[in-house]
Amino acid sequence: MTLSRLLLIVLYIQVVVQVLSEELLAPPAPPQNIHVDNWLLTWTATEERDVTYTVQYRSFDTDNWKDVPACIQISLNSCNVTLLKPEEYDCVMLRVRAERHLLTTGPVEACSRHGGSCTPEVSLTARPGSLTVYLSRNHSLALEHGGHAMYRVYYGKKGEPLQKFKDDVSSVSFNELQEGQHYCTKVQYIYFNKPFGLPSCTQCVVIPESRKNLKQTEILVVVVAVIILVILVPVIAYILIFQRGRIKQWLRPPYEIPDDFLNTFHVHHNPISTSSSSEEHWDVISCITPEEVRE
Ligand SMILES: *[C@@H]1O[C@H](CO)[C@@H](O)[C@H](O)[C@H]1NC(C)=O
Ligand SMILES: *[C@@H]1O[C@H](CO)[C@@H](O)[C@H](O)[C@H]1NC(C)=O
Repeated sequence: MTLSRLLLIVLYIQVVVQVLSEELLAPPAPPQNIHVDNWLLTWTATEERDVTYTVQYRSFDTDNWKDVPACIQISLNSCNVTLLKPEEYDCVMLRVRAERHLLTTGPVEACSRHGGSCTPEVSLTARPGSLTVYLSRNHSLALEHGGHAMYRVYYGKKGEPLQKFKDDVSSVSFNELQEGQHYCTKVQYIYFNKPFGLPSCTQCVVIPESRKNLKQTEILVVVVAVIILVILVPVIAYILIFQRGRIKQWLRPPYEIPDDFLNTFHVHHNPISTSSSSEEHWDVISCITPEEVRE
């Protein structure tokens, strides 16, 4: 076997491996936007071909995930999980796995957009530097199980995984957050420190700028206003005091003056000045105002 032939074979194997790894050996993209609405679990399917999905659930009292029987390796992007209603099971957690040619992606957990007995009801308020997650102390899990039932509030900057959390029995505040940044949060019930039911879907808010920055803007506006006033007041006063005649002139309703009248006036009263500067024209007209005459 010649060297060139050997090289060709090596090259061929490389190409085959590359095609295989792209087509077959790479796991499919994970499913996204997985949420439950009225016991129907839906997700955004990837655009890849030959991808199937398997839905799994886990009850509170076990660490094992089990497949939802009706939703194993389905090519749809939804699964009816009515059978997992809390009457039959406890509140369950759900997740979806994507598969292709025996390769699977890591499962992605589902969330619920609506609060209820298995998912906390969440509302957010952002203030400069802080975020408050409002949670009721009076939820069914707490009423049933007392202080062992709590909220686990995950938080973090948008785009980062929500790994940090705080546990509490009611509303939680996060302080010293970066202003102008988006922060996200999701909340899950915990019972004896273990997740219970579906978390709420991730909600994000922008932390507003503090009053300090706004105040600086306000002060600047006031300073500019004062400067304008300081300049404008004397100017207006000057105009009002010394230019009264002219103002009256401007305010006077316009009326037509016959052209020849003005000409004759020029000739008779002001024979020396023949220049046509506008100031002199004004003076000429002011001579004939009745008010001026009275003054
Ligand atoms: C889900 O299945 C239940 C019965 O198991 C059925 O009553 C319900 O209508 C189904 N929901 C949807 C959205 O198909
Ligand atoms: C707590 O919730 C129960 C029902 O879940 C309701 O009857 C009760 O009025 C609530 N109490 C308060 C203080 O909100």
